[in-house]
Amino acid sequence: MKPAADLIITSANELLTLRGHSSSPKTGKEMDDLGIIPDGCLAISEDRIIACGSMDEVLAEVSETPDTVKIDASSRVVMPGFIDSHTHLVFAGGREDEFEQRIKGAGYLDILKSGGGIFNTVRATRAAGKEELIKKSRKHLDTMLKFGTTTVEAKSGYGLTIEDESKQLQVMKELNKIHPVDVIPTFLVHTTPPEFSSREKYIDFVINNMLPKMRGMAEYCDIFCEHEVFDPEHSLQVLTAAKKLGFKLKIHADQLSDMGCARLAAELHAASASHLDHISREGIDAMANSGTVAILLPGAAFFLGSDTYAPAPEMISRGVAVALATDFNPGSCPTESMQIILTLACITMKMSPAQVINAATINAAHAINRADTIGSLEAGKRADVIILDVPNHKCIPYHFGVNLVQTVIKKGRIMRFGCAD
Ligand code: NIG
Ligand code: FE
Repeated sequence: MKPAADLIITSANELLTLRGHSSSPKTGKEMDDLGIIPDGCLAISEDRIIACGSMDEVLAEVSETPDTVKIDASSRVVMPGFIDSHTHLVFAGGREDEFEQRIKGAGYLDILKSGGGIFNTVRATRAAGKEELIKKSRKHLDTMLKFGTTTVEAKSGYGLTIEDESKQLQVMKELNKIHPVDVIPTFLVHTTPPEFSSREKYIDFVINNMLPKMRGMAEYCDIFCEHEVFDPEHSLQVLTAAKKLGFKLKIHADQLSDMGCARLAAELHAASASHLDHISREGIDAMANSGTVAILLPGAAFFLGSDTYAPAPEMISRGVAVALATDFNPGSCPTESMQIILTLACITMKMSPAQVINAATINAAHAINRADTIGSLEAGKRADVIILDVPNHKCIPYHFGVNLVQTVIKKGRIMRFGCAD
């Protein structure tokens, strides 16, 4: 008996399957391929994809019932939902005043050193109650979903006390219950709070007091390794301790300067290293074929007015697995849209349209260890699917600054967007 489909998407001008790379991320020339099926068809039962292929293939494999819903995707592109593998989703307040200061010439790290920047958001987040944080983050998730993001990684790091970091992670847990977008929680060691007299004392506190409490609440541990923030030695200590406690690892690496953190990430077998705008040749070699995914964040470099972006073409050709994410946060990249990030990646890092789509789907799934269930359209995978009102994939980064996503399907359910208050 043929399985019955609840939902069939028919006649996609281009069905981007991204198939065949669930066990390891794409590198090199594999990034040029999107597994495109012209006049493609996708069948879904409950929250799973049950068939994916040409119209003839799929309609031969599945059966329809009177309740089967059909969506005609002719002249459109169908692809997996975007996976935003690096965000700072949960925070209070805004930093538009600092935006204005930066336009007039103030530096990001100078603002941080003078007690603003991340500290500004820490003060607001500490002062906010859980309900307020849920309401605000939920709104951001709504926007993400409308713009085609179906899974996000989210970091704490604006609490910097056991109580306030736990509060951020509890908010993520709540969001997972009330919002269709899946939220993957990360405990981020972001900076040293003012109540500690030295970074070393805070690092000791993190290792001995915070990490054991965050276990169970966060899947990953991340640290911001940068001059004036935390050294590679601090990062090594924290990430080694976190690994022993069962956390998977992530790192903010080589963003504003080359700190040698790309190598550190590869040596620690971290799931990902993010930013990497200043990665060295040696760092590229260390990350190549290492299993650690490079999450590039051109939105942050753009919004900070940097003239240095990660050398994506060199990284890709030398075998580094590259993903893209928003870095959504109130300071260095306040956008929820993966679509604008794809455009920025093409323009600033010279990635091709096919490469940016691979980087925002299957490779992003690897960056959060979820490629067995999401990131491509294949039978057995979760039905997280988007339909874009464009005739071909090249238009996705090309027609920029607007929302091209027409329909979002999350776990097999067609999402309807009302007005959020
Ligand atoms: O990834 N680099 C450090 N952390 C964030 C920014 C956080 C903030 O400015 O609030 C980032 O860019
Ligand atoms: Fe970040």
